[in-house]
Amino acid sequence: LNLAAKSARKLYLGTATNSEQWNDTTYFNILKNNAEFGQVTPANVMKWFATEPEEGVFTFQDGDIIADFTKKTGKLLRGHNCVWHNQLPDWLETGTFSAPELAFIVSRHCFNLVNHYQGHVWDVINEAFNDDGTFRSDIFFDTLNTTYIPLALYAARAADPKAKLYINDFNIEGIGAKSDALKSLIKELKSQNVPIDGVGLQSHFEVGGVPPTLQQNMEEFVALGLEVAITELDIRFTALPPTPAGLAQQKADYETVVAACNAVPKCVGVTLWDFTDKYSWIPGTFPGQGDACPWTDEFVKRPAYEGIIEGFKAH
Ligand code: G3I
Repeated sequence: LNLAAKSARKLYLGTATNSEQWNDTTYFNILKNNAEFGQVTPANVMKWFATEPEEGVFTFQDGDIIADFTKKTGKLLRGHNCVWHNQLPDWLETGTFSAPELAFIVSRHCFNLVNHYQGHVWDVINEAFNDDGTFRSDIFFDTLNTTYIPLALYAARAADPKAKLYINDFNIEGIGAKSDALKSLIKELKSQNVPIDGVGLQSHFEVGGVPPTLQQNMEEFVALGLEVAITELDIRFTALPPTPAGLAQQKADYETVVAACNAVPKCVGVTLWDFTDKYSWIPGTFPGQGDACPWTDEFVKRPAYEGIIEGFKAH
């Protein structure tokens, strides 16, 4: 839904997508419909493995397919992502790099990516924290400590001064150790004038598990001088099939999330991590769980879809 029409505020509803899915015409017709989606995030093709498969060799063709689609259809594009521990190319995964070498590699990667896709929003840093609020041990932190974060942000800013730069993570949707740690990082970055514009709350929830502090937490990020976005929403059943009561709860949960964003003036929109179970990542990662999307695998709208509509109307 391009929810501008449904809401007093110009929030977008968006979705993640992979272009391999686009020859599924039922899927593609829903995706391209601007009455449903005003924003798109590439689920995989802008990640490091896809954009710099060999050291210093950049490949943008697959990402361009999605960028061109958003241009043609007038949808917003969210770049995903510059620096993440997962889905790295082999050369980076298996290589040994000194701190100066890796610093150069991170800067070059972020610069080239953001420079290529001008004028968009970027998840520059993805999933930098553990759930207890400590920094995740990965090639970036282990080699550069936290310095890779400002490095990546500065490179992105230099590449495109207009792009909104985000830090994106999961389990930061409610107030707790992990969101506290991110708030501390944001304060530190801000105090050093490091460019940072927003926090992305991924929002991979379980039915009944939307944190009650979601809205307050978003307001706290906004109070630090940022905008926020719900970037990867899905709400899964941990046991299948869902009961009617479960589907009602899921509908209420979708409404709660969208209404929370709607209630926070600097929450810019909500992105689903794909809109149909047919292409959801959940069953592959959590066997036996799923039915997390507003559309079933046969493209039937669940009550959750109505919940989204209600959430957009709420304000
Ligand atoms: O492309 C290969 C294909 O050639 C091969 O035959 C197949 C066999 O497994 O794998 C394919 O790669 C898969 C890739 O998606 C592309 O479809 C990987 O196995 C699979 O692990 C990978 O999953 C992606 C996942 O990130 C990786 O962690 C999901 O599609 C993607 O939706 C998911 O997205 C992440 C966000 O980026 C960050 N936040 C969490 C979110 C969900 O995990």
